[in-house]
Amino acid sequence: MNFSDSEIVASVMTENNYETALSAQDSDVIFLNTCSIRDNAEQRVLNRLKQLQVLRKKNPALIIGVLGCMAERLKTSLLEEQRLGMRIDMVVGPDAYRDLPQLMVDAESGQKAVNIILSSEETYADITPVRYAAGGVSAFISIMRGCENFCSYCVVPHTRGKERSRNPDSIVNEARQLIDDGYKEITLLGQNVNSYAWKEASGNIPVDFPSLMENIASLSSQLRIRFATSHPKDMSDELLYVISRHPTICKSIHLPVQSGSSSVLKRMNRKYTREDYLQRIEAIRKIVPGCAISTDIITGFCGETDQEFHETLSLMERVGYDFAYMFKYSERPGTIAAKKLKDDVPEAVKTIRLEEVINLQQQLSLRSNQAEVGSLQEVLVEGPSKRSSAYVSGRTSRNKVVVFPDNHYKAGDYVMVKITGCTSATLKGES
Ligand code: 5AD
Ligand code: SF4
Repeated sequence: MNFSDSEIVASVMTENNYETALSAQDSDVIFLNTCSIRDNAEQRVLNRLKQLQVLRKKNPALIIGVLGCMAERLKTSLLEEQRLGMRIDMVVGPDAYRDLPQLMVDAESGQKAVNIILSSEETYADITPVRYAAGGVSAFISIMRGCENFCSYCVVPHTRGKERSRNPDSIVNEARQLIDDGYKEITLLGQNVNSYAWKEASGNIPVDFPSLMENIASLSSQLRIRFATSHPKDMSDELLYVISRHPTICKSIHLPVQSGSSSVLKRMNRKYTREDYLQRIEAIRKIVPGCAISTDIITGFCGETDQEFHETLSLMERVGYDFAYMFKYSERPGTIAAKKLKDDVPEAVKTIRLEEVINLQQQLSLRSNQAEVGSLQEVLVEGPSKRSSAYVSGRTSRNKVVVFPDNHYKAGDYVMVKITGCTSATLKGES
């Protein structure tokens, strides 16, 4: 989402006669688009901001701005030079990017520039993002902004504001433009794409996520469509039927479970139980056979007992995830958990539990990859492999990375690849 937002920022700035520079050293203005989701994300940004201060020696007129969620969460406290031990010139929240040119005028005249007003309407629907994705193969389209689910651990509803969906016509037009420009893969983005809803469509037919997907899936047979992220409580069978009907929609679903324990899920305010979640997994297996499933997991949430933690491990085994993002719980100021629950799982226990889920997931990923050895897969080439220029790397519909010998392939080619081996992270193949 931040990557996609940075493309909007770049678009607003280039429209106003600014150019992107290749490095911080060459820049007169530096924006950090920030994340508040966990404390370590914020600490990394603060360290980076400190490092960037040395550039002021060479360029005293340098403007440094903090954009996005940290701007929203920390607000004007980011301008307190003495307390922070550094100077920040601009603080701009995620709904204020249209205001950047005006804020630049203030900053260039030496004033501190701030806009952290959240909007209930802004979707940047009419702004064509400047595309930064490497290779011109894969692009993001933001279809909605904000979130009102208020999972108790999560800062996003506080930093990104109310949920709002973007006009479907503008989404389909952006997808068409990307196809015309040669893009082969589009990922539709939102905090909870399953609750996408547009009520003012032409002819007054409401558009929901399954119908939006259906519209985009039919645009080109050469296209691959992905989406993120789905909330399990809103993942409908209807969407699964759309996925199963359209070969252009990738057979890969990211369905964050967070915990395998119903009591922890209740404390997290996730609004589903372990059983509800497993029922959704069964529906995926039945309606979209062979679909890859990935997830997010948090270890050491408030009050998590050993038994509750083991329910997460057992759910992971039961689902057999193909991939997972795994995190230690990090208390975020202002969230419901921070106000009402005790962050009482010791750091060391959080760490051990995280190691356990990572180890288990590594086995599950290996098992999932081994099952693909011997199969023939259509791979969308993304570019040279990181390790050797004699190889290229790309992805399957199930979102698995495949590395195979380069036979003069270009980014954007579809290649049939025989899978010959694997690690837990990568498939190896021959074309
Ligand atoms: N601590 C740890 N992980 C978190 N996530 C969100 N908030 C927190 C937090 N306070 C994780 C969730 C979410 C992913 C994007 O980040 O797993 O799905
Ligand atoms: Fe955060 Fe929950 Fe919204 Fe996801 S659905 S952004 S975890 S509040």
